[in-house]
Amino acid sequence: MKLEDMNFDEKMGELGAIIGEEERKRGILIPALHEIQNKMGYLDPEELKELSKSLNISLTEIYSVASFYKMFHFKPRGKKIVKVCFGTACYVRGAKVVLDSLSEEFDVKDGETTEDLTMTLETVGCVGCCGLAPVVTCNEEVVGEIDGKKLDAFIDSVKEE
Ligand code: FES
Repeated sequence: MKLEDMNFDEKMGELGAIIGEEERKRGILIPALHEIQNKMGYLDPEELKELSKSLNISLTEIYSVASFYKMFHFKPRGKKIVKVCFGTACYVRGAKVVLDSLSEEFDVKDGETTEDLTMTLETVGCVGCCGLAPVVTCNEEVVGEIDGKKLDAFIDSVKEE
């Protein structure tokens, strides 16, 4: 077939439809991942398999997309998400000691969740209140100037239902 014999509008029309369908699926993928995480607390593998079938997107691609974003989690997380700021100001003012104390108290390492799903312990970069270093957060609560006494009270509050 010669170039001038080709109907580009028709070809582009087909291609446009294909691109449109693929883009539409990808547009749905991220909100669907959010919905699964909101419902389950993490990206449950069985739910991802179902999503793969219903969107006709391979599981590999779904995992590839989801793992690109730090907001998605592949393991169940605790009811309380405790974050120890490891930004420079907090680090030099004792964040490592705070992390070690929390780690010992709840028997979890950085990035782990207690077996009873009470809490997940994480470290984060600067949370934006360096003047209060060292800083920890529990869900939406921010606690600054953590010392031994404040840490004990913080631990008690994390243990509360
Ligand atoms: S370094 Fe911890 S709040 Fe900025």
